[in-house]
Amino acid sequence: MTVQFPTDRGGDLSIRPAERADLLAVVRIENASFSQPWPYDAFDRFLGEPGFLVAVDDGRVAGYVVADVSSNVGRRIGHIKDIAVHPDHRGNGIGSALLSRALAVMAAHGADSVKLEVRRSNDKAKRLYREFGFEPLRRVPDYYDDEDAIVMIRKLD
Ligand SMILES: CC(C)(COP(=O)(O)OP(=O)(O)OC[C@H]1O[C@@H](n2cnc3c(N)ncnc32)[C@H](O)[C@@H]1OP(=O)(O)O)[C@@H](O)C(=O)NCCC(=O)NCCS
Repeated sequence: MTVQFPTDRGGDLSIRPAERADLLAVVRIENASFSQPWPYDAFDRFLGEPGFLVAVDDGRVAGYVVADVSSNVGRRIGHIKDIAVHPDHRGNGIGSALLSRALAVMAAHGADSVKLEVRRSNDKAKRLYREFGFEPLRRVPDYYDDEDAIVMIRKLD
């Protein structure tokens, strides 16, 4: 399903499930966003997963989110595994729109809570997650090769 989000520029941003044809653009954004980027194959494996979504702005992939829902001791837990917006498109609400849509998709697939890991130094992402009701749960030493992760979690209604 494609969902339209209004933008400040008056246009519409579409968020829809990722397709194979999006993957090169996704990998380009990933490489521009992370020091340890996911390779192409990692994204390929998530094609068809309802929580792998792209944001399309003016016909171009401007960002993406990869999320899934799994069962753990009778509970359904959503996991945001990756999210990034093209550097030229940041600060326009695209990351918020992706997060919002991913949470709705995970709720529709039965998740009662959602977790994610974020680099301890990534204040911008942590601020965004806090705006969406995520709270820090614990620190995972050396989760990334060169840095600790903070696990953040929020409940879904
Ligand atoms: C984190 C990330 C996904 C956020 O994406 P984004 O599209 O810039 O996010 P948003 O625009 O929705 O919000 C980011 C900021 O812009 C502000 N903003 C939102 N809409 C805005 C608008 N229309 N005009 C101006 N600013 C706006 C938000 O308040 C927020 O400000 P803050 O950082 O001071 O709180 C993006 O910065 C990114 O790709 N970073 C690199 C990858 C990364 O770190 N991913 C997270 C891994 S855990």
